Amino acid sequence: MSEAVYPVPAHIAASATITAEKAAVMRAAVQQDPDAFWRQEARRLDWITPFTRVNDSNFNEADFAISWFSDGQLNVSANCLDRHLETRGDQAAIIWEGDNPAESRVITYRQLHEEVCRFANVLKDQGVRRGDRVTIYLPMIPEAAFAMLACTRIGAIHSIVFGGFSPDSLASRIRDCDSRLVITADEGLRGGKSVPLKANVDAALDHCASVEKVIVVQRTGGAVKMVEGRDLFYAPLRDAASVDCPYEAMGAEDPLFILYTSGSTGTPKGVLHTTGGYLLWASLTHDYVFDYKPGEVYWCTADIGWVTGHSYVVYGPLANGATTLMFEGVPNYPDHSRFWQVCDKWNVAIFYTAPTALRALMREGDDYVKSSSRKSLRILGSVGEPINPEAWEWYHRVVGEDRCPIVDTWWQTETGGILIAPLPGATALKPGSATQPLFGVEPVLVDAEGKVLEGATDGNLCIAQSWPGQMRTVYNDHDRFFQTYFSTYPGYYFTGDGCRRDADGYYWITGRVDDVINVSGHRMGTAEVESALVAHAKVAEAAVVGMPHAIKGQGIYAYVTLNAGEEGDNALRKELVAWVRREIGPIATPDVIQFAPGLPKTRSGKIMRRILRKIAEGDVSSLGDTSTLADPSVVDHLIADSRLVN
Ligand code: WT7
Repeated sequence: MSEAVYPVPAHIAASATITAEKAAVMRAAVQQDPDAFWRQEARRLDWITPFTRVNDSNFNEADFAISWFSDGQLNVSANCLDRHLETRGDQAAIIWEGDNPAESRVITYRQLHEEVCRFANVLKDQGVRRGDRVTIYLPMIPEAAFAMLACTRIGAIHSIVFGGFSPDSLASRIRDCDSRLVITADEGLRGGKSVPLKANVDAALDHCASVEKVIVVQRTGGAVKMVEGRDLFYAPLRDAASVDCPYEAMGAEDPLFILYTSGSTGTPKGVLHTTGGYLLWASLTHDYVFDYKPGEVYWCTADIGWVTGHSYVVYGPLANGATTLMFEGVPNYPDHSRFWQVCDKWNVAIFYTAPTALRALMREGDDYVKSSSRKSLRILGSVGEPINPEAWEWYHRVVGEDRCPIVDTWWQTETGGILIAPLPGATALKPGSATQPLFGVEPVLVDAEGKVLEGATDGNLCIAQSWPGQMRTVYNDHDRFFQTYFSTYPGYYFTGDGCRRDADGYYWITGRVDDVINVSGHRMGTAEVESALVAHAKVAEAAVVGMPHAIKGQGIYAYVTLNAGEEGDNALRKELVAWVRREIGPIATPDVIQFAPGLPKTRSGKIMRRILRKIAEGDVSSLGDTSTLADPSVVDHLIADSRLVN
């Protein structure tokens, strides 16, 4: 572990919203009277009906509840749009930078308000009502933000599915929440290549009875099949729609959106976030963690298909009246300097990306970075996976020229927004550590038996108290919600992450302790990849584990047992890789497929993944106890064969 400590730069402290002194006062305040603290912080939002209740949450099984500001009413789009019109109607709300560097759009708050009202009216005309679910399967184009905000305006619940997911994955997400309407584009465009989004929707809808209408935004103008009576192009509907659409008064605990995420078992869970607490958390964390200053251009590179895109491309920045940059493309197109070219083109002050992108760019050498000025940059951010100190140092020294603090932000789809991160004007940095919890966040480290560990220690990361942005349920499966997060260590929210706390009280996330892997900052359940593999006619059994990967953080290592008589050769390897990509999507592409005549199982038939992980890591000197295996000789075979595939 790196021992370096980077103090708060004086020029950052001088203008920071949260200085060290302010942070100390706020920490004391939230500790002393949390409800009073949150009552005050919640004033950053505009409420239609003020709340009187604050926090009615309890993690214990007997009176389990998560509820914030429950008798208050507000509207998310009104907070992100209407209230800014008077003061910053002509300021850029969204700067859209196309995949092609020659394409861009600047949308002011006034224009955004109009576009959202039009989209909301289109949805209403198509029969979408408060509480209905709308699936959004769009590329990174402004219409994605219009559609999200339009849903919130009329009280519809959006469920965004990342454009990299396959028709099958899309179909299961549409079915799970019974969407009435799907919003998509003809094609997406990334790195000069087109993605057949509408064709994927067509394939998905063969298996979805609930969908009545499909709205198609024309991004590329590519040819698409339009189903009579079901599919409608967006442009003519938009042109005919009124720019006036009153917003609905929503209860603070009314559902805002569903976002599917992978767990250690079963199918992806529909993480449900609600209106008041989520928006407060997105707004507050965007303000404090990025120290956002009015007028600054802020850029989060995440896709809106992930929670980072929800909270830190759209809701947090827009609630704060910020200028948010939305990027359609990829870091290496047209070349590896694209990120830094975009920073210069739009004078980006705050830049927030994932370690996997940094590692990929770092490998290409410093010249791509140094060919740009980057003088507008003030704060850098990292999210999605642990950032290795080497990448951190490169980000700090080469990209930020030693002047920009790096905020390493730890959080999850479930948490709605950042929970552990530095405050740039208050927290000294340690490369590789997400540093300290935000106000009101109470991390607890426990051992395998649930015993709370004090001081400098390693443990399983739990959170002891609710915070406003916490997920409220798994859509349609409240029992699964409780079982997944609150039953392992009773009384605590269990994150699934391992973590070390050092002597200074800094937190170092060490990665997942469950059967979830993190591939390029994308969460993948090993069970999902396994079920995709066993769905192939030649596969009898599969076990999937994570393996260290220099760029992706973790890669996907699959052990596959074939049906009797099948031959495991390179052709079949290729076929299985293509199969998984088709079943789940390109993000689930296995990096290694090892054909395994047998898997290491206990006598009761449980696969010992610990052993498979070690072999995948190439660390076979410390396999631990293998005596409980039904057939210990399996392990020697696996080790010998692993040398052939690696
Ligand atoms: C998992 C959550 C956070 C939004 C994007 C991913 C890992 C996330 C960090 C970080 C170390 C991190 C954790 C977490 N993770 N940020 N800064 N340092 N690990 O959201 O898909 O829900 O994944 O990502 O393992 O549990 P997600």
